[in-house]
Amino acid sequence: MWVIFLLLGSAAAAAVQPHTFHGEKVFRVIPQNEEEVEFIKSLATNIQVDFWFPDSVTQIRPALQVDFRVEFHQALDVQSLLAQKGMKYEVLIDNLEVALEREFDNNARAIGYNYEKYNNWDMIAAWTASIAAENPELVSRSQIGTSYEGRPMYLLKVGKSGSNKNAIFMDCGFHAREWISPAFCQWFVKEAVNNYGIDSEITNLLNNLDFYILPVLNIDGYVYTWTNNRMWRKTRSKNANSSCIGTDPNRNFNAGWCTVGASNRPCDDTYCGPAPESEKETKALADFIRSKHSVIKAYLTIHSYSQMLLFPYSYKNSVTKDHTELNSLAKAAVSQLNSLYNTRYTYGSGAATIYLAAGGSDDWAYDLGIKYSFTFELRDTGRYGFVLPESQIQPTCQETFLAVKYISNYVLNNP
Ligand code: ARG
Ligand code: ZN
Repeated sequence: MWVIFLLLGSAAAAAVQPHTFHGEKVFRVIPQNEEEVEFIKSLATNIQVDFWFPDSVTQIRPALQVDFRVEFHQALDVQSLLAQKGMKYEVLIDNLEVALEREFDNNARAIGYNYEKYNNWDMIAAWTASIAAENPELVSRSQIGTSYEGRPMYLLKVGKSGSNKNAIFMDCGFHAREWISPAFCQWFVKEAVNNYGIDSEITNLLNNLDFYILPVLNIDGYVYTWTNNRMWRKTRSKNANSSCIGTDPNRNFNAGWCTVGASNRPCDDTYCGPAPESEKETKALADFIRSKHSVIKAYLTIHSYSQMLLFPYSYKNSVTKDHTELNSLAKAAVSQLNSLYNTRYTYGSGAATIYLAAGGSDDWAYDLGIKYSFTFELRDTGRYGFVLPESQIQPTCQETFLAVKYISNYVLNNP
């Protein structure tokens, strides 16, 4: 009896206590001038500020909305400082812990797999096996690498087998806390297989194109958001000479690497890593795309939040030679997306639309020769931010599906 009791006791003590967010607030400020920009920057140097938008303090500029999270014991100070300064602010989330509880329908995490719920990594991994087993003519699973902590990076190939097919590559889950992103990759595969042979457009797409879908790139980070810290962004690799963990995978590619909008400090959320492709996950992705780069005609990478459709460049202000075409394709895709629920997206080159940020996979893929390279920033615009309620999974995925379908048709006809 005692032995069992002691064992249980020590197992419980060893279990990680997830980070809680009681009383933490998310603020929105739109600095009106350089002085107000400086004020927000000084806040960030004096207290722990988690930038939700833009991703880092360096990207703050006048007239750009800034969403940031502060801890409970500093939230009231921040609020009074903003008031003192006479700066207009909004409290987007008053108590993050409460918002997190409401993120799940019925306040509960799902028991089994469900497309309209957030699924943890074990669920997603099992799903990759079953969706392939259930649709042998359309879906096959392979492994493109292993994460830092040793998890298999599964890739799904979706399409009817044929010769000389071009392909579209899409990944989800670069940034761990952007949970709507992996939900979309799963939704996309479901929608494709369920409508094959029923919907002529989807049938045509799957007959003539292969879709490579990577449901979660940053698996270790995703797991960590489920077990320890819901607001984690980076990978989980150890850094030399620092106790801080992780690299921003979307600052880790060889595209103006670490020149702008990225940090060279391992403790920062936009840390570019010690070298391009230093992370096992980004290396595996880049190796796969390089190995198939003559057939891959489009690269789509799914993030959240902001409701934007972005294309290169983000590491420099100059436009690409395909700017006009990419811009009109983005415009049409966004209008498709909008047609369902009137969700408003902005679009344009990354540098002109959000901020300069080097080392992103979209710019890297474009410079490799994949012309149709897009970053989606899914719902919402900040009401819930990363804590998008499960009730929005279905509408978000449905509208996004329309945009991806539009781009796919375009790529099929203009390879
Ligand atoms: N929010 C995304 C990020 O910061 C935007 C990516 C846009 N593309 C880029 N290459 N920066 O990673
Ligand atoms: Zn992201």
